[in-house]
Amino acid sequence: MLASVEYQGRIAKTNIDFSWDNSFNIIFELLSQRFDSFNDNGFYPHPDEVALRQELKEVSTLRRLAERIRALGSNGLVLHNLGLEGLPEERRNAVLYALTLMLGYPTSTDQRTGRVAWDVKARPETGIDGRFVTFSERVGSADMHTDSSFYPMPEESFILYVVNAAQCQGGHSILIDADDIYTTLHRTAEGAAAFELLRTTPVPFRVPAVYAAGDDNVEIYEAPVFGPPVRAGDRFTMRWRYDAIKKGLAARPDLSSPALEDAVELMHRVAEQEAPRFMEQLPTDTLMLADNHRMLHGRTTYTDERRHLIRIRMSDVPNAQRVGPSGVVRD
Ligand SMILES: [Fe+2]
Repeated sequence: MLASVEYQGRIAKTNIDFSWDNSFNIIFELLSQRFDSFNDNGFYPHPDEVALRQELKEVSTLRRLAERIRALGSNGLVLHNLGLEGLPEERRNAVLYALTLMLGYPTSTDQRTGRVAWDVKARPETGIDGRFVTFSERVGSADMHTDSSFYPMPEESFILYVVNAAQCQGGHSILIDADDIYTTLHRTAEGAAAFELLRTTPVPFRVPAVYAAGDDNVEIYEAPVFGPPVRAGDRFTMRWRYDAIKKGLAARPDLSSPALEDAVELMHRVAEQEAPRFMEQLPTDTLMLADNHRMLHGRTTYTDERRHLIRIRMSDVPNAQRVGPSGVVRD
């Protein structure tokens, strides 16, 4: 099912070692029976997702692949040659929706359309006359963060699937494991104190203005950066988004203190520079699966605007049991 697995810390790297044969047709047929339309090939959290997952378990390649992935128990997975290269978008996204529904419950990434499959790519910015001006800032780098940090229930995991790898020197995907954050912080007494403060003190995460009700109505979610562990053997779970915390502290000075500001800056340095990290340019047809509570993720800058990834976030609990909004598009 999977070729020999190589580990880099808690990240497993491997290749697909089987043929999907007729599975794509069966998956497509099952989803076609359940979805009236594929929502512009973005899908949506299906109201009968629990039953649909049971149906998809009948596709043995899909079921066995999901079981094998779960059995790895890693915090990150890089799976090369998934086998979706060249498929039409509706087929490719159907397989990605089906696979993510075997691993969790895909959430809406776009609150307006309900899409779960989000295209991560440069979007042309147009000027006032409608003419193309430049590609958006999204070709820039992304600070290390966890997704949905400013919402009550950040999804437990997400996938990125590489449709088109960047044909330039940039666009590396970066992951940092929670243990490496912990170890790096504990190299100094100052870092250990920062960890303790960020574990015991809720910090204000500001919801990005475009997703909040309006600029006058500042939305804040308070939570510690290092939350209680939910799995045996873990020290903590993480929420981290430097810019959201900085804006939260600016909006709520009553929740700030010099010690807290220092701890946030120290953590920022650890996340951006000091902690050891996985950093690779993922090739086309690679699937990356990451734990959103036990890893930070980010991206280096790139210039090739044809770079195209698909992201789907997954919750451990069905959408009907979730509290608050799901993650946002640009996160
Ligand atoms: Fe993200």
